Amino acid sequence: MLNIVHQYRLEPARVADAASLAGMSQDLVETGLRPAWDAARIAWHIGTAIVGFAIMRYADDTAHLNLLAVAPAHRRRGVARRLVAWLEDTALTAGTFTIALELRAGNEGARAFYAALGYRELARVPGYYQGRESAIRMTRDVARQPRGDAAPPPAP
Ligand SMILES: CC(C)(COP(=O)(O)OP(=O)(O)OC[C@H]1O[C@@H](n2cnc3c(N)ncnc32)[C@H](O)[C@@H]1OP(=O)(O)O)[C@@H](O)C(=O)NCCC(=O)NCCS
Repeated sequence: MLNIVHQYRLEPARVADAASLAGMSQDLVETGLRPAWDAARIAWHIGTAIVGFAIMRYADDTAHLNLLAVAPAHRRRGVARRLVAWLEDTALTAGTFTIALELRAGNEGARAFYAALGYRELARVPGYYQGRESAIRMTRDVARQPRGDAAPPPAP
């Protein structure tokens, strides 16, 4: 009996477990009932949720911000600003001083966000997205332009 017990390990559930826990609840607890404990509800009880993420690729001279997003309910609370600041600090530590990125040309919110962080527009790249949508390319030199001294966005 003891041996069997020792085959199991207790650890806190993670948000990534929510779907399989919801499946177990529906199969083993709520059998025959309308499921009340779906993955979203279980994830809420687990308590940690991913509200945003970013992916940056670091090369020798330039770091490229590939993806950045914050869930709508958590926007305008400084989440993306903190994410980008962390990535920029990592680039600085690695000796990579130029950050580059592209965003969809019609994405006014992101454009305003990057401008607020001191990024400047370099070029418009037609057809960048699957050959049918233009991109705006933006860049920032994190060594020459420390965050506290970021220039305000140009007047419209
Ligand atoms: C762009 C995005 C990542 C910003 O995330 P966020 O966490 O809301 O941004 P922050 O709260 O850190 O904003 C910092 C500053 O940027 C500016 N800003 C951010 N979003 C803005 C918007 N929609 N319109 C105008 N300015 C904006 C503001 O100056 C803001 O400071 P303030 O709230 O004190 O005024 C988020 O809107 C998003 O996920 N959008 C959809 C995905 C996307 O466009 N990704 C980027 C393309 S690569």
